[in-house]
Amino acid sequence: MNSFEINKIITAILVTILVVFGIGKISNIIFDKNDENIVAYKVEAPEDLAVKASSEASIDISALLAIGDIAHGEKQFKKCKACHSIKQDGGNKIGPKLWNVMFRKVGSIVDYKYSKALLSYGKEWSWEEMNGFLIKPSAWIKGNKMGFAGLKSEKDRASVILYLNQNSDNPKPLP
Ligand code: HEC
Repeated sequence: MNSFEINKIITAILVTILVVFGIGKISNIIFDKNDENIVAYKVEAPEDLAVKASSEASIDISALLAIGDIAHGEKQFKKCKACHSIKQDGGNKIGPKLWNVMFRKVGSIVDYKYSKALLSYGKEWSWEEMNGFLIKPSAWIKGNKMGFAGLKSEKDRASVILYLNQNSDNPKPLP
């Protein structure tokens, strides 16, 4: 073996070492970075974001109610009628009676069997609470048993809230 061949062998070994370690390093850099990026982004459903946004009291409730219309609310209330009576002398159906519901304590009709979720909620039906609830009932009060998807349209919601307020011994002035 002459020195030229020995040089070739040493060079081959060095190149192999370089390639093996080099690839390891490079792939670490590429894949680690990617993994971190994937973990860093958590995607939330847009609907839940909408519910969250209105729960942070950032909505302008006066502006929302201003686009409502009681007659339109009465029409929209047909969607609720299968389960609720709004009449003054109406009783409970699948859901509790809704005469006087605005500003009454959540879950406070004594002869209606509410879910624990509503019984323990502890707030009253303010404009903001009713709006948030009607966007998507299941998201606003987790574990309640009202089987209704919600009213996505602001005009529909504002109108139903005005209609609920109207069907009361003492309708409140709008905020
Ligand atoms: C499929 C039946 C169903 C429909 C449709 C429905 N609800 Fe309900 N609702 C219920 C039930 C059941 C409850 C009681 C929920 C619980 O105890 O968890 C309830 C509870 C409520 C409450 C709470 C009342 C209280 O005493 O605290 C309000 C307010 C309400 N509904 C409004 C509406 C409105 C407004 C609509 C129409 C836009 C509607 N609901 C449509 C079944 C329904």
